[in-house]
Amino acid sequence: MTRDDTPLDGKTALVTGASSGIGRAAAGLLARDGADVALAARREERLRELADEIEAEHGRRVLAVPTDVTDETQVREMVERTADELGGVDLVVANAGINRQGSVEDISTERYRSLMDVNVDGTFFTAQAAIPALRETAGVLIFVASFAGHYPRPDQPIYAASKWWTRGFALSLAGYLGRDDVGVTVVSPSEVDTEIGIHDGRPAHERFADIDSATPEEFAECIAFAARQEAPNAVAELGFYRRNKFSNWTRNADG
Ligand SMILES: NC(=O)c1ccc[n+]([C@@H]2O[C@H](COP(=O)([O-])OP(=O)(O)OC[C@H]3O[C@@H](n4cnc5c(N)ncnc54)[C@H](OP(=O)(O)O)[C@@H]3O)[C@@H](O)[C@H]2O)c1
Repeated sequence: MTRDDTPLDGKTALVTGASSGIGRAAAGLLARDGADVALAARREERLRELADEIEAEHGRRVLAVPTDVTDETQVREMVERTADELGGVDLVVANAGINRQGSVEDISTERYRSLMDVNVDGTFFTAQAAIPALRETAGVLIFVASFAGHYPRPDQPIYAASKWWTRGFALSLAGYLGRDDVGVTVVSPSEVDTEIGIHDGRPAHERFADIDSATPEEFAECIAFAARQEAPNAVAELGFYRRNKFSNWTRNADG
């Protein structure tokens, strides 16, 4: 069997958090696989630069849609513009997310809210706005959760909880939207070298410098794989982490 080089030919993908890291890499791979792509995030200049890069490299139509996912009006407009200007929405990657360090006792209400606004509300608004368009195309909705949404994370309970929420929401939606032939996938990475955490002064690519972390492109292949799913099947969940991820846990268990 030969692999079709452009399995997403004729499809339109919308990626949130496309100005950096995983979203940026996913947008490039989806275009490589044949999709036209809409790029959403707040930093417009980055989106425009990426749009030029993807157009030049893959020859696809690319739309930059500056969007703050915490603003439901902007999110609705993001989906409408994608559908109007690229001719429909076949695939949505709800990827935009942030992390904020801080213990439960000390974290300010503002920092707590900013995390929940993006990771929970932003994810919800994105799915809510995308569902009607995805029903029309029997499309695919991919959520980027986290390894932290599978196991307790004592040092980052609020971030972890936002990702458990993402999985709970996504897996429940999968049952609901499956009746309409919409596929739902949750992808959960562990350490990926991106900018996440930069607002606390230490981006992931610095924090993970001494471990075998993944590149955004390596993880984004999971998104590209899930994007190729066709009715009646769905890729429900994918976990992605380094092979020695559990080695410390074993050492702890051994004392
Ligand atoms: N890197 C890892 O190790 C790792 C592990 C597990 C899960 N994840 C998840 O992967 C996803 C992507 O993160 P990343 O690691 O690629 O981090 P990143 O490089 O910091 O990228 C985050 C993206 O989210 C966007 N974003 C943040 N707030 C936004 C808002 N209010 N509205 C719209 N877009 C917003 C950012 O764009 P603007 O600032 O331009 O808006 C940026 O494009 C997140 O959901 C994260 O939780 C990452």
